Amino acid sequence: MEKLIYEKDAFSPEDTSAAGAYLAELILKDGSLPRFVALRGDLGAGKTEFTRGFASIASPGSTVKSPTYALVNEYKKGKIPIFHFDIYRLADEDDLYSTGYFDYLERGICLVEWFENIPECLPDEYFEVIIDKINDGEARHISVYLR
Ligand SMILES: Nc1ncnc2c1ncn2[C@@H]1O[C@H](COP(=O)(O)OP(=O)(O)OP(=O)(O)O)[C@@H](O)[C@H]1O
Ligand SMILES: [Mg+2]
Repeated sequence: MEKLIYEKDAFSPEDTSAAGAYLAELILKDGSLPRFVALRGDLGAGKTEFTRGFASIASPGSTVKSPTYALVNEYKKGKIPIFHFDIYRLADEDDLYSTGYFDYLERGICLVEWFENIPECLPDEYFEVIIDKINDGEARHISVYLR
C-alpha cells in the first residue's frame, strides 16, 4: 500500500513543525492508523523539528531534543506515550534488540530518525515522512506517505 497523505513546501522551522502537528492530529483521531512514523531526510533536514510539532499535539508541553546520544527520548504528557528514536549510530538489528526497541513499538507512538540504517526496524504498516531541502537549503519539501 502506498498513499500520499500530505505534501507541502515548508519555508520555516515553524512550517516543518506544523506538518508534524498535522500528522499527530491525524493519528490521534483515527485509532486504525499506524502508530509508527519513519523520518527520512539528510543531516539537518528537519526530522527533529517535525517531531517537535508532532509532540506539541501528542504530548503538549514537552521539550523535544535530539535523541542522538540518548538513542530514545520519551514524551508522556499526552494520552499515549511518544518514543522518539535516532538510530544513526546503531549498526544492525541485534543492536536494536539490545535496546528493547521492539517492546517500545507496542507501548506508544514511535518516531524514528535514520530508520534506513536498519530497515528491519520498520513494522508492516507505517507513515514515511520525506523531508528534502529546496531553495538552496533555505526551505524544505515535505511529503508524508502511508506505507
Ligand atoms: N522548513 C524549514 N526551513 C528552514 N529551516 C528549517 C526548516 N525546517 C527545519 N529547519 C531547520 O533545520 C535545522 C535542522 O533541523 P533538525 O535538527 O530538525 O534536523 P534533523 O533532520 O533532525 O537532523 P539530524 O539528522 O542531524 O538529526 C534546524 O535549525 C531547523 O530549525
Ligand atoms: Mg534530528
